[in-house]
Amino acid sequence: MYIYKAAVIGSGVMGAGIAQVISYAGIPVILKDINQEAVDFGLKTVRKTYQGRVDKGKMTASDLTAKMALVTGAVDYSGFSDVDLVIEAVFEDLVLKQKLFSELATVCPEGTIFASNTSSLPISAIAAATRKPDKVIGMHFFNPAPVMKLVEVISGLATSQETVDDIITFSEGLRKIPIRVQECAGFLVNRILMPYLNEAAIALQEGAATSKEMDEAAVGFGLPMGPFTLTDMIGIDVAAKVADILYDAYGPRMAPAQILAALCQAGRFGSKAGAGFYEYTEGSKIPLTAVIQGIQEKKQTAFSINRLVMPMINEAVFALQEGVATASDIDIAMMAGIGFPQDKGGPLHYADQIGVDVVLSELQRLTQELGDRFWPAPLLKRMVMGGYTGVKTGKGFFTY
Ligand code: 3HC
Repeated sequence: MYIYKAAVIGSGVMGAGIAQVISYAGIPVILKDINQEAVDFGLKTVRKTYQGRVDKGKMTASDLTAKMALVTGAVDYSGFSDVDLVIEAVFEDLVLKQKLFSELATVCPEGTIFASNTSSLPISAIAAATRKPDKVIGMHFFNPAPVMKLVEVISGLATSQETVDDIITFSEGLRKIPIRVQECAGFLVNRILMPYLNEAAIALQEGAATSKEMDEAAVGFGLPMGPFTLTDMIGIDVAAKVADILYDAYGPRMAPAQILAALCQAGRFGSKAGAGFYEYTEGSKIPLTAVIQGIQEKKQTAFSINRLVMPMINEAVFALQEGVATASDIDIAMMAGIGFPQDKGGPLHYADQIGVDVVLSELQRLTQELGDRFWPAPLLKRMVMGGYTGVKTGKGFFTY
């Protein structure tokens, strides 16, 4: 099915980013939220992205006008009677999403595909609230949506192959890289990203290094931004919610750093709130040092870049052994979704480069030093015992 017209529900930063991407591909899109103020914010955000391109000479002012004409703001469902695809990007609340999807079924045509941009809620559970679960799918974009190339495509238990094929074709039409991911908490990229962000937060609590030092180390490794800048950009509230969902699904190795909840309590929700791990505007928020002092661990631990990178590799291996995605899709997703350094080829190629045996022993060392959250994925041990140690033996996660 060709998507002639789409709608995005939720005109926050993600929803607006998705609407911009759709309109940029020449497809009309409704941007809906519950009140005019929210809709105006979304429209302003879309315009700002286009204006940035005009300012850089990458598009003309008349192109901007033409693209903006494709985006219609709405506070109700008028205009939904001929939409082929609805993408929801509302707050991460299962009941809210279920209610929304069952409401949408009454205003959209029979064949409309309902996609959720949820970062970690089960697609099957969202679909269960609709009459046509075969038409419900996960379509997970990454922030900033206009820039990040990845779209994770997640089937629920009842999603039809036709729906999957339509969304893959549509995503390619948006000039994105769609990667099919099996349904699991955090899907693929958030599941791998979060242990890295969380470990940085734990290291901060333990006084291992400052946020600036750790951000610099991550950028030195080749990532586009460090963990604290990134968590501030994602939103501490969003990160904390994802961390809770992952903890619930995977247990102790994903136990959220206390500082995430503490920052939310202090109203430091990240760059959107003017303060998170860093300050963006001067204000009356409780200072970061006071937040840290409130939860500071007695023990002081050491920082190394491996402390941040090894959990990412380990979780990528867990995901691989569970069949969430193939090794090459995992690597592509991490490069396209969070900018994992291209010269390292993704976490699994990187593991092959430095040696799967080195990854295993480094995780074992970190387990001894810092705790069981670093416990190596069983596949790593099997690979090392079988001689699959990476580039040096010609076989690892890939063959050489
Ligand atoms: N909206 C639109 N465009 C933006 C933008 C935004 N918010 N931020 C940057 N851009 C554009 C710029 O205009 C520029 O465009 P150009 O190449 O056409 O000139 C381009 O992106 C590069 O921007 P900059 O030169 O200003 O800055 P950088 O080169 O440092 O890139 C970045 C900025 C793309 C944000 C880069 O730092 C990056 O890739 N960071 C990692 C982001 C990441 O990991 N995202 C995933 C988060 S996890 C997630 O979203 C999942 C969720 O479920 C939690």
